[in-house]
Amino acid sequence: MSSQSPYKVLCVCLGNICRSPTAEVILRHFCDAQQLDVLVDSAGTSNYHPNKAPDSRSQRHAKKRGYDLSSLRARQLTIDDFSEFDLILAMDQENLNDIQALQKRALAQATLQPLKAHIALMSEHDPVYTRQALPDPYYGEAEDFERVLDQCESSAKAWVELFKQQALNNKL
Ligand code: 4NP
Repeated sequence: MSSQSPYKVLCVCLGNICRSPTAEVILRHFCDAQQLDVLVDSAGTSNYHPNKAPDSRSQRHAKKRGYDLSSLRARQLTIDDFSEFDLILAMDQENLNDIQALQKRALAQATLQPLKAHIALMSEHDPVYTRQALPDPYYGEAEDFERVLDQCESSAKAWVELFKQQALNNKL
């Protein structure tokens, strides 16, 4: 883990309009609440919705819990993200596979920039949804958007506990 400040985390899903913007805002909220020096961003493995605001259903459900997604804009994951970010969090296994495939291309092209990004599932340390996929709500119903919020809150809390330990050990 990097000792540089701030520690940079990128949340990644397919479209960057439902799950990863939700994860971004929730993880930032919990990091800020603990005054952790963590910068959070999000991206999509696809370029389906460039520069689009988060899905209106994601925004509406998030707002009911006090999270504002309105200022976010979708972008695609790039090769540069592997040198820019310390930690890349995949929302599901397919995202993880796609991120790892792009990381291979980044490694092949790497010159002076070290590729520092560690890649993990969003649910890696989650005690409730351990290593479970964050289900894609795009073709789903209200309860699927609520599930995204429940799982993002649970997984983000687990990451924040880890970050707090690492901050105590001066590794963050
Ligand atoms: P996300 O959801 O990956 O959580 O942002 C999706 C958004 C859009 C599409 C698929 C999933 N799409 O096919 O356009």
